[in-house]
Amino acid sequence: MNYHVGVISGDGIGPEVVAEAQKVLDAIGAKFGHTFTYDAILMGGCSIDATGVPLTDEAIAQAKASDAVLMGSIGGNTATSPWYKLAPHLRPEAGLLKLRKALNLFANLRPAYLYEELKEACPLRDDIIGDGFDMMIMRELTGGLYFGARKTEEVNGVMTAVDTLTYTEDEIRRIAKRGFDIAMKRRKKVTSVDKANVLDSSRLWRKVVEEVAKDYPKVTYEHMLVDNCAMQLVKDPKQFDVILTENMFGDILSDEASMVTGSIGMLSSASLNDTKFGLYEPSGGSAPDIAGKGIANPIATILSAAMMLRYSFDLDKEADAVEAAVKQVLKDGYRTIDIMPQEEDKKASVTQVGTKQMGDLICERI
Ligand code: NAD
Ligand code: IPM
Ligand code: MN
Repeated sequence: MNYHVGVISGDGIGPEVVAEAQKVLDAIGAKFGHTFTYDAILMGGCSIDATGVPLTDEAIAQAKASDAVLMGSIGGNTATSPWYKLAPHLRPEAGLLKLRKALNLFANLRPAYLYEELKEACPLRDDIIGDGFDMMIMRELTGGLYFGARKTEEVNGVMTAVDTLTYTEDEIRRIAKRGFDIAMKRRKKVTSVDKANVLDSSRLWRKVVEEVAKDYPKVTYEHMLVDNCAMQLVKDPKQFDVILTENMFGDILSDEASMVTGSIGMLSSASLNDTKFGLYEPSGGSAPDIAGKGIANPIATILSAAMMLRYSFDLDKEADAVEAAVKQVLKDGYRTIDIMPQEEDKKASVTQVGTKQMGDLICERI
């Protein structure tokens, strides 16, 4: 079977890590008898340089015409890149938000899992790590502060900026259902994270989650305030199965959760709507500090490609093969710099490799 994959290489390390994920998809194709055809889509800073805008209508049409989209990351150094002198709607991130909205990608799945082999890259103490942990962050992706009205204006002679946080009950219900559905396939626990002690949007979130929970009697659920959740993620990450939360909280908590799995370079993601289509991308960014050096970890992008195989193409065996190859490469002692053991004396027991080599080693294990 042929699958038509839109590819947004993007900026910074984006093209470096996407190339490795494509190599892995091709290795899967060769082994299992599928073909993947790729359609390059411009988005982010590279699109600004080429067209003046971060996402053209043509790029949206290309994404819509694809079976799924694989993406690297977009953006540059927000303090120094000329892209950040442009009006906000013309900056790289505006392209990504526009695409998420255009494709109605409201459900963002970010699985944070500690590989046994990466315990030594995890900054937490051994007694906290225990047998490891495995959580799924379900982040609402098309609502909240990211998409509310905003403005900056002078009010009574004082510059004033406003961002609005809006959620409708329907937006909350559809992501909550996704969260509980996923929990049913996992350890049947949902932690809904909000700031209901302050925000109206969170109080509505809590009410709707309670209604949805009634349809899932087998799922244990709890509410947790977001500040406590940030703390619990490093105190005792084992307690979490599915973390269900709104857009901005999910953005912040998923970066935090990634670090307890060793590195942001390990955290994959799938952004889904109500169809089989999905946008698959690592949760981290364009990493301008290491771009072009050939040292970025491609595993988050490779695991995102595995999510594409599983969620958009129903190719479970193939997704399993990618995940097993990643596990094997770690078992065989290969590490990119971000997942090297923390302690000096343990560094000699593994081999440090670059982006391309890591991709090749994973392909060899497929
Ligand atoms: P970042 O995630 O790009 O980088 C944070 C740190 O993590 C850096 O030290 C970086 O080197 C490291 N890192 C990230 N991915 C890595 C990988 N695969 N391997 C090894 N190390 C990795 O976050 P930032 O510096 O705050 O943002 C840089 C730019 O990326 C900004 O323009 C931001 O808007 C953009 N961004 C884009 C996406 C996306 O496209 N989905 C996500 C997050 C940030
Ligand atoms: C992410 C990124 C994006 C977000 C940015 C680049 C708009 O940080 O995918 O986590 O905040 O959603
Ligand atoms: Mn983020």
